[in-house]
Amino acid sequence: MNILAINGSPHGNLGNTDLILQPLLRGMESTGAKTETIYLNKINIKHCIGCFNCWFKTPGKCIHHDDMAPLLEKKRSADLIIYATPLYVFSTTGLMKVFLDRGIPNLMPFFEENSDGSKLTKHPERYPRTAPQKMLLVSSCGFPEEKHFAPLIQTFKHAAEENGTEYIGEILKPAAWLLKEEDMCEKANAYYADLYTAGKYLITQGKIDAELLKKLHQSWLSDHEIRAMVNKEFHSMLNDKR
Ligand SMILES: Cc1cc2nc3c(=O)[nH]c(=O)nc-3n(C[C@H](O)[C@H](O)[C@H](O)COP(=O)(O)O)c2cc1C
Repeated sequence: MNILAINGSPHGNLGNTDLILQPLLRGMESTGAKTETIYLNKINIKHCIGCFNCWFKTPGKCIHHDDMAPLLEKKRSADLIIYATPLYVFSTTGLMKVFLDRGIPNLMPFFEENSDGSKLTKHPERYPRTAPQKMLLVSSCGFPEEKHFAPLIQTFKHAAEENGTEYIGEILKPAAWLLKEEDMCEKANAYYADLYTAGKYLITQGKIDAELLKKLHQSWLSDHEIRAMVNKEFHSMLNDKR
């Protein structure tokens, strides 16, 4: 199994999102799966200028000559694609959005009815897949509530439906900065071990174990405690002794 993880955090391998992604990938690798992580903060991808050359003038090829071309091929051939992005203004980061937009050379311009029964219009794939593809979303955010991820989940679920990709779920970590708090070290280590197991299950059973997912999504502190903790820290950073 060939797994492609796209990390869209400007903090790349030093960020909270990667702390969630990497143990999950290690668990997947333990089953023999091959994984690759692309850090979008380390590569050069220009934004789509909407010229549609990739559809009409040079079909399948973008006018930009940057690091995106080999990724289009990797994106097509992955059995599982993991989108890992921190929540930025209730959505993906700009880096991830640029990556998603630059995926259009993989599509044909035509409009056709989706065969999934939704009756929605979609673009056909330029290179029809020979094997099914799955999609998983991994995200972290600063606020304590999981509800903030709703628009992000909707974006990726919809994209999966339009691409004929099976959306297999999401691993979310609200208040993800807690992973780096010294007093949370024990909880964080147990969490990483659960992520490893989740990655393993995901490959061997095709989905995330429901009980484990519940555990992964359990809050470590109450929302009230988290707000108090953050505000204390922020006041001290601002030298505000209120
Ligand atoms: C520009 C910007 C927008 C953000 N928007 C949100 C948001 O809408 N909701 C939220 O809970 N956290 C938000 N955050 C916090 C990040 O999602 C959070 O710190 C995340 O864990 C960072 O992940 P990373 O370390 O992998 O980059 C935002 C941070 C930045 C810099």
